[in-house]
Amino acid sequence: MSHIIAPSLLAADFADLKGAVALVDRSPAPWLHLDVMDGVFVPNISFGFPVIQAIRPLTKKVFDVHLMIVRPDNYIHAFRDAGADVLTVHAEACPHLHRSIQAIKAAGMKAGVAINPHTNVSVLEDVLADIDLVCMMSVNPGFGGQKFIEHTYAKIAALKELRRHTGSTALIEIDGGVGKMNFTQLITAGADVLVAGNSVFGATDPARAIVALSGK
Ligand code: DX5
Ligand code: ZN
Repeated sequence: MSHIIAPSLLAADFADLKGAVALVDRSPAPWLHLDVMDGVFVPNISFGFPVIQAIRPLTKKVFDVHLMIVRPDNYIHAFRDAGADVLTVHAEACPHLHRSIQAIKAAGMKAGVAINPHTNVSVLEDVLADIDLVCMMSVNPGFGGQKFIEHTYAKIAALKELRRHTGSTALIEIDGGVGKMNFTQLITAGADVLVAGNSVFGATDPARAIVALSGK
């Protein structure tokens, strides 16, 4: 099994972010998923670049920053300076998606595009060859701990076909409701990156949960 586990800090104890980052740092997970919410694009507010900047010195793991915000173009350099390695914007929040992707790449980061559960993968057709990651939401964005939407499997199949057709090498990331009950099936379906919030930080032993999801 060759896949990337990206624990989501959203489900961690915010009073001990240092401890949460240290736990991921010691784990086999290569990425740390960071959910930025603005209370406008999604009905919740999480954290922004000051927090990302504060935890950046604590680990060399890949910072996978998922922007659930309107007008992300205004903040691309701020997130780069805060330490983002992969910067993902929502297709639904970007009227000039091509421009946003080019700006992220020009700033020296890998570019990701996220799509909500209701958004068809076909919206990605004309940008898929340009991007490094598709973040496929398997819950409606805004909150951790939600139930996985089963229709995601059909969307993974459609995205794999579109990826082949466009010659893209973008990774397929699944975000929301991922855990021990479905991770094997998701990898078999074609997922490359699995975001895991509550299934890691809500577990009795988070370190062990990461090891289990890593297939190690
Ligand atoms: C949801 C976020 C997810 C969230 C996943 O809006 O984008 O990354 O942290 O949490 P779980 O794994 O608990 O569904
Ligand atoms: Zn996310």
